[in-house]
Amino acid sequence: MKLDGCFALITGASAGLGREFVRQLAGRARGLVLVARRGDRLNQLRDEVLARDPNLLVHVRVVDLCDQAQREQLTQWLEQEKIDVDLLINNAGLGDYGSFATSDLERDDRIMQVNIVALTSLTRALLPQMIARKRGTILNVSSSAGFLPIPGMALYAASKAYVNCFSEALRAELRATGVTVTALCPGPVHTEFGDVAKRPGREPERGPGFVYVSIERVVRAALDGVEADRPVVIPGAMMKLGMFLVRLTPMSILRLAWRLSGNR
Ligand SMILES: NC(=O)c1ccc[n+]([C@@H]2O[C@H](COP(=O)([O-])OP(=O)(O)OC[C@H]3O[C@@H](n4cnc5c(N)ncnc54)[C@H](OP(=O)(O)O)[C@@H]3O)[C@@H](O)[C@H]2O)c1
Repeated sequence: MKLDGCFALITGASAGLGREFVRQLAGRARGLVLVARRGDRLNQLRDEVLARDPNLLVHVRVVDLCDQAQREQLTQWLEQEKIDVDLLINNAGLGDYGSFATSDLERDDRIMQVNIVALTSLTRALLPQMIARKRGTILNVSSSAGFLPIPGMALYAASKAYVNCFSEALRAELRATGVTVTALCPGPVHTEFGDVAKRPGREPERGPGFVYVSIERVVRAALDGVEADRPVVIPGAMMKLGMFLVRLTPMSILRLAWRLSGNR
C-alpha cells in the first residue's frame, strides 16, 4: 500500500521506534493518531511534526494498553470521530532481561498484555473497516527474538514468536482483500527498550556493536517494506544473514549450544 495520504495509528509513539515512525510519516500521511501513556511526550511530538507539516491532522491519545477498558475507549473514540485508520502500527512493546522463575509477575503480565493482547485486539477492532474499504496495512513490530527461544528472555521471545506467527497467518487470510500485513523483526536498536527491560540494580544488556541498526534505518526499512508488501522485514545485512542461519538451525543444535553455555 502506498503510504502517501494514509491515516496511521501508531502505538508506543512516545519513544524509540514509535516516535521515529511518527517523524517519518509526517509530510506523507494525511493524519496520525499517537498512542502511549506519556501524554507530555506525545504532545511535544505533535507540536514538532505540526511545525513541519501544518496540514497534518494529529490526535494524541493517552492510553495504557494493558487496560482493556482503555483499549476499548480508544477504538470507540475512533468510531465516534469517524477516523478510518488505514495504517495500524502495533509498535508498543516491552521486555525483561533475566530468568523467568525470578521475574516480576506484574511485569510479566504487562509484557503479555502489550506485546500480545493489545496488538491482537487493536488489529481485530480495526480490520473490518479496512476490509470494507479494501485498503489497509497492519505493521506489527515484532523482533528477531521471535525467531528462536531465548533463555534469559523467555517470555519476551515467546511473545514475539506469537507476533510472527499471527502476522503470517493473518496475511494469508487477508490475501485478495486489499489489506496487507507486515512483521518488522529488528535486531538490537538503541532506544529506551534496554532501560525498561533491565532488572533493578542491573545494567541493560548490550549486544555487539556491529549488530545494531539505527532507529532511522529500521523505520525506513519498515515503511519501504510495507509499500513493497513484504511479509517480514529484517533491517540490516548482519541481522538478515544471522536470522537466515538461525532459521536453518535445528532445535537440537540450539539445545546443545545452550547446554554448552550453561543454560539447560
Ligand atoms: N530496541 C530494540 O532493540 C528492539 C529490537 C527488536 C524489537 N523491538 C520492538 O520495538 C518496539 C518498540 O520498542 P522500542 O525499542 O522503541 O522501545 P521504547 O523506546 O522503550 O518504546 C516503547 C514504547 O512502548 C510504549 N508502551 C510501553 N508500555 C505501554 C503501555 N502499557 N501502554 C501504552 N504504550 C506502552 C512506550 O510508551 P509509554 O511508556 O509512554 O507508555 C513507548 O512509547 C517494541 O515492540 C519492541 O519489542 C525493539
